[in-house]
Amino acid sequence: TPVPVIGIDGPSASGKGTVGARVAEALGFQHLDSGSLYRLVALAGMREGVALDDEVALARIAAALPASFEGDTVFLAGDDVTNAIRSEACSVGASKVAVLPAVREALFWRQRAYRRAPGLVAEGRDIGSVIFPDAPVKIFLTASAEARAERRYKQLIDKGMPANMDDLLSDLRERDARDSQRAVAPLKRSEDAALLDTSEMTIQQAVDFVLQQAAALR
Ligand code: C5P
Repeated sequence: TPVPVIGIDGPSASGKGTVGARVAEALGFQHLDSGSLYRLVALAGMREGVALDDEVALARIAAALPASFEGDTVFLAGDDVTNAIRSEACSVGASKVAVLPAVREALFWRQRAYRRAPGLVAEGRDIGSVIFPDAPVKIFLTASAEARAERRYKQLIDKGMPANMDDLLSDLRERDARDSQRAVAPLKRSEDAALLDTSEMTIQQAVDFVLQQAAALR
């Protein structure tokens, strides 16, 4: 039988990352936060002085991305970039490189390789639609733009990084628009994904919902 996948798609700052990590931990599954790959491509591009619409150069970077993960820590060429990839510059940059088909192509197999026993929790925008269309559990996790901006604000402040609510809200709306309107793999709820709006939910309630959906896998 194929290795089970729990695919969690949804907009920026909807809580996918935290929920995905906790569900993976609870089930003892592998975990893939696919957004971090796009963030890493953007960061590597910016560090190399590559324009974020240079598809050929960015696809080359994506194909040879010297990234590794150790628990919650993310490394780029041996550098700890855990906080750097969460900056607003990287958030905006990631949504720019993510519109480029050759970049998505270069990251396709890298994402597929995370599907290993006993199972995988993967979150992103196109997990249920493109990367793992046969995932037995698909969730579309969302929240109002205001709730998401507020969460991002708290995350940044907690990390001691600068944050401004109005800027965060307009950045989020801009990224939502770019993610939903792009030609390749746009953010869209697939018909077979369970809808979960977490605007008024705690993280634990969202985790419990996903675990319930996944109960049949165990
Ligand atoms: O999920 P996160 O906000 O970290 O993702 C950063 C950006 O990467 C998103 O705005 C989106 O443009 C892109 N992305 C994507 N497909 C995925 C995951 C992320 O296009 N599967």
